[in-house]
Amino acid sequence: MNILLLGSGGREHALAWKIRQSKKCNSLFIAPGNPGTASCGTNVALSPNDFDSIASFCKEKQIEMIVVGPEDPLVNGIYDFIKSNSETSHIVVVGPSKQGALLEGSKAYAKAFMQRHSIPTASYKEFTKENYNEGVEYIRAHSLPIVLKADGLAGGKGVVIASTHKEALETFSSMILSSQFGAAGDKVVIEQFLTGVELSVFALTNGEQFVVLPEAKDYKRIGEGDTGPNTGGMGAVSPVPFADDKFRGKVLSQVVEPTIKGLREEGIVYKGFVFFGLIKVNDEPFVIEYNCRMGDPETEVVMPRLDSDLIDLFLAMEQGSLDQEMIKTDSRAAATVVVVSGGYPGEYEKGKKVNGMDRSWGSDTLPFYAGIQLKGNDLVTSGGRVLAITSYGTGLQDAVDKSLKEIEHIQFEKMNFRKDIGYEFR
Ligand code: AMP
Ligand code: GLY
Repeated sequence: MNILLLGSGGREHALAWKIRQSKKCNSLFIAPGNPGTASCGTNVALSPNDFDSIASFCKEKQIEMIVVGPEDPLVNGIYDFIKSNSETSHIVVVGPSKQGALLEGSKAYAKAFMQRHSIPTASYKEFTKENYNEGVEYIRAHSLPIVLKADGLAGGKGVVIASTHKEALETFSSMILSSQFGAAGDKVVIEQFLTGVELSVFALTNGEQFVVLPEAKDYKRIGEGDTGPNTGGMGAVSPVPFADDKFRGKVLSQVVEPTIKGLREEGIVYKGFVFFGLIKVNDEPFVIEYNCRMGDPETEVVMPRLDSDLIDLFLAMEQGSLDQEMIKTDSRAAATVVVVSGGYPGEYEKGKKVNGMDRSWGSDTLPFYAGIQLKGNDLVTSGGRVLAITSYGTGLQDAVDKSLKEIEHIQFEKMNFRKDIGYEFR
């Protein structure tokens, strides 16, 4: 098959690496990709949100499958666009319809969906300008801490956990009255704070059947010991030791099955990944959020641990035979350590020359590229998250240690990374 993968981060490098291993993959194109994906296929200078150009490219290269990495093309409706054009409607699109992507694109929509289908989640209420004063009263009467979420996509920055009523009221006002997050904050979900440990569970579904991939845990805070501001993710591990068979059983019966059943009952077209952001509260799973794509950096540990052929899974998704697929998992642990630009997630400089990439890596290590570009013959930084260095290990400790050892050879000005990924399990 000729396959087009959309996106340019570490997640897409890991997906490209995995797709390339399939015998069914003939040509692989990545739009726009990065220097890492270029070793798995051909990068194409196209924006994942330029649907017209993507459709033309698909016709020109006889693309048979589009795999969508990031959320924004999905929320913008790429599935519906490709399917509604008679010249591209035959293409398998791995990613939900615009309606399905609302599970990530609107937090209020996701919360209402969970309520309709009795899926465990924090109690909540939604507010807009119209019922602003009610929101103020709701906050004043609410226990602390209190969680405020801008309804729409806000690049991972739309969630504020306020520890005082004053902070909550200020956040509420800046989201709704001062449009801090633009239109994404016109509606705000205010919800109960849940205390527990988080993990990410991934399913591939066609809206009827599903398979569950290896679970992962990501480390969102910039600082060691989970301190400081949230980032896109500073590292991830898989498996997650506290996700034992009993807990996994609960995730399946209380979260995954009712979600897929809900999609089916509501006639929502959904062929792609569902990312369940979960929190374990007293041994019970609660949904913190849905995403309509794979996680980053979780993909950088999930794909290495997936032994099944990914294209076979995508074809089974399309053909309605996912229920006959058994997910084969590598028994080794995997960990990824994300190397970021100094200053990230705040202001940071780009264009720093990255040294140490042109070497033979340890046999258990997979260096995934993210915010990095080729400038002449040099690799230079081009984003906050620059690299995700994944390693296999006999256990999580071993895997993290191997990645840290490899990172010793990498150098760029002001580089930063966490040395404590997986710390609770070591
Ligand atoms: P999100 O952008 O939805 O992934 O949220 C960012 C982070 O905020 C999550 O990973 C959680 O750590 C935290 N969070 C979100 N909602 C809640 C909640 N109801 N209770 C506790 N923590 C939460
Ligand atoms: N690592 C969290 C995310 O991809 O949203």
